[in-house]
Amino acid sequence: MPEKLPDYALTARALWTKSNAEYTAGRAREKWAQDQITWGVWSTPESTVRILPDVHGLDVIELGCGTAYFGAWLKKHGARRVVGIDITPAQLETARAMNQEFGLGLELIEANAEEVPLPDATFDLAFSEYGASIWCDSERWIPEAARLLRPGGELVFVRNTDLEMVCSPDEGKVVERLVRPLRGMNRLDWSEDGQPSTEFHLSTTDLFQLLRRTGFDVVDYRQLYASDDSVDHPRYDFVPAEWGRRWPSEEIWRARKR
Ligand SMILES: C[S@@+](CC[C@H](N)C(=O)[O-])C[C@H]1O[C@@H](n2cnc3c(N)ncnc32)[C@H](O)[C@@H]1O
Repeated sequence: MPEKLPDYALTARALWTKSNAEYTAGRAREKWAQDQITWGVWSTPESTVRILPDVHGLDVIELGCGTAYFGAWLKKHGARRVVGIDITPAQLETARAMNQEFGLGLELIEANAEEVPLPDATFDLAFSEYGASIWCDSERWIPEAARLLRPGGELVFVRNTDLEMVCSPDEGKVVERLVRPLRGMNRLDWSEDGQPSTEFHLSTTDLFQLLRRTGFDVVDYRQLYASDDSVDHPRYDFVPAEWGRRWPSEEIWRARKR
């Protein structure tokens, strides 16, 4: 572990320790048992999105793995090696218990995803489902992903859309009007029930430029809507399904290291 973590990593660790006790540990077994790969809060099936590369034989790293169910799905779908990185010991403890129970052989490391203690050019696929993609500083975690990837390796990640972010008030659910500027958006400090939380969101154009500067070509990009039968998520209900059916709340990026 690095000696000194940024303030937002310590904030995230406190938040995810609480979230693990209240929610994610209890959901982990059901998620690990799932065979199908699904994306985000609307559980959009990868079989309809079709954005992932064929993961057979790939060395994969998940940046901000949480309880590591997504890594588990990729291992079940043929990945050779899956390493999960997370800053929160409680989340990793759940991931380790699941790894033991399901016998999938994931490697789980406690570290800041902006500073991973692994050598350069070790992986074919780096990915994040609401991990580093929203909790880490993009100017730090994207170059780190580039460092960890082999040439031709790919970075796939999910985050919220620009539209969702500009419609998100400081507190409460997403609304149907623009409540914050997109221009210059980066660090966002929130507070929910007195619990501080810091996320990062670069606008699409800024993120696209950062990926280019960091040596990536963007090869795919999708916006996800809630489906007709989606219902409000039991915990992540700040985007009501009704909103998500009309506007895209989630997006997936796929970029290839030159
Ligand atoms: C929503 S979870 C994402 C993981 C997984 N998709 C899930 O839903 O369980 C967010 C995870 O990011 C982790 N995280 C936040 N900041 C991090 C950082 N700087 N380095 C590594 N992990 C971090 C948190 O500890 C948390 O487990």
